[in-house]
Amino acid sequence: MDTLNRDIFRVLFDERCIEKRVRELGAILSKDYYQKNPILVCILRGAVVFLSDLMKSMTLPLEIDFLSLSSYGRSTKTTGMIKVRKDIDLIMKDRHVIIVEDIVDSGLTLQFVYDYLTNLTPKSVSTCVLLNKPSQYKVDLKVDYIGFEIGDEFVVGYGLDYAEKYRNLPYIGVLKEDVYK
Ligand code: IMP
Ligand code: MG
Repeated sequence: MDTLNRDIFRVLFDERCIEKRVRELGAILSKDYYQKNPILVCILRGAVVFLSDLMKSMTLPLEIDFLSLSSYGRSTKTTGMIKVRKDIDLIMKDRHVIIVEDIVDSGLTLQFVYDYLTNLTPKSVSTCVLLNKPSQYKVDLKVDYIGFEIGDEFVVGYGLDYAEKYRNLPYIGVLKEDVYK
């Protein structure tokens, strides 16, 4: 872990702080989706850690599914070119769907997923993201459930990566600029 920790400039949210907030979100979702048997659609791969903690803090019957999109590659900004790599398996028609995403930056990814799932005529679609960078929005996007607001910094850990690394850090931290610049 030390070789990973060395690349972190500053810890933004530690394990306890994340755990507390994810539990709060789980409680809110449990209330809002009472008797709705929602499908949580996790955007691979960044949101898997968030999904696994979030679903454990939800106290109602639910189902999970996974959608994988073309990613950033080694860059730290989105290209805007989004493609489905691995499709969902469950049938979304007439279901209540919650999109679970790690972070919103430009908003292009979440907008794409929202439109993609809405086309499958579910009963409802909402968005639940752990981290929100509202200063960077390039689209007119409404996020329904937000863990934390952050500034325009590149962060890793708790599922979030840079070039596929750092996902296993238990906290969320700002990556040192000299690691990617
Ligand atoms: P957007 O399409 O620009 O909103 O970017 C969203 C996607 O980019 C997320 O699913 C993340 O995988 C990735 N991303 C954006 N910002 C960060 C960051 O600070 N750290 C790690 N990944 C990020
Ligand atoms: Mg992602």
